[in-house]
Amino acid sequence: MLRTDVTAGQSAITEAVRRLRAAGCVFAEDEAAVLAAAAQDDQALAELVGRRALGEPLEQVVGYADFCGVTVRLRPGVFVPRVRSELLVRLSVASAPADAVVVDLCCGSGALGMAVRHRRTDVDLHSADLDPIAVRTARENLHTPVHQGNLFDALPAATLRGRIDVLIANVPYVATRHIPLLPAEARDHEPHTALDGGPDGLDVFRAVAAEAPRWLAPGGVLLSEITEAQATAAAETVQAAGLDGDVISDDDLEAHVIRGRRTR
Ligand SMILES: C[S@@+](CC[C@H](N)C(=O)[O-])C[C@H]1O[C@@H](n2cnc3c(N)ncnc32)[C@H](O)[C@@H]1O
Repeated sequence: MLRTDVTAGQSAITEAVRRLRAAGCVFAEDEAAVLAAAAQDDQALAELVGRRALGEPLEQVVGYADFCGVTVRLRPGVFVPRVRSELLVRLSVASAPADAVVVDLCCGSGALGMAVRHRRTDVDLHSADLDPIAVRTARENLHTPVHQGNLFDALPAATLRGRIDVLIANVPYVATRHIPLLPAEARDHEPHTALDGGPDGLDVFRAVAAEAPRWLAPGGVLLSEITEAQATAAAETVQAAGLDGDVISDDDLEAHVIRGRRTR
């Protein structure tokens, strides 16, 4: 739950609820409480409500998200970690041997790596992203290395190539034609480079899978979130790359993860 210790005056909060409801917020009371807790005073609350009423994600407005047991700092323009990505965290933790090398490629705010380290402080975590704002945010969230660059180009090859036990890659995986169908919060306030995975949503995943065998340690796994509709194509992609592939789903989270294991 986002913080709700209320500090603003009651009349300002009542007005916040009214404006949020008028803007179409379904959980206007709850959101007003979260915004009030983030605001220093009534004027600040009014400004935060104005941003939220224009459709900015609540987490970007208050500057943090609660994800999988950790509080993640966020900035405008940085992907908001999704509840469903808890499946990636759980599988990463379960797959990591003692003192594992874990890489969070396409790390955004760094949320997934943070959550893994929260559960497994022994892992040697490296994170990376192309987007400088995401990298800056991840560096604020993590006390472990955060690299900047295009996919594996960002990583220090001398120390990581062939040594990664768990490669988390929550890449952009929305098919381009589906971007206009996303909620306005994502469509208008998250960079399309964080969402758009090309014609079938798997362009970035294919690039990651093709390189993954050279970076994984023997027995190491690649874990990527996908849609249910992408399962067959994603499994074929990891197999073509020489990894053993399977798809894990969680109905409660409505989450699907393709897993590719290096067995040779
Ligand atoms: C779906 S978001 C996931 C962010 C984070 N892992 C999470 O789950 O909250 C995808 C991320 O991939 C990054 N990205 C997109 N293309 C990339 C590339 N070619 N190389 C590195 N990062 C990339 C975006 O900047 C964005 O932060």
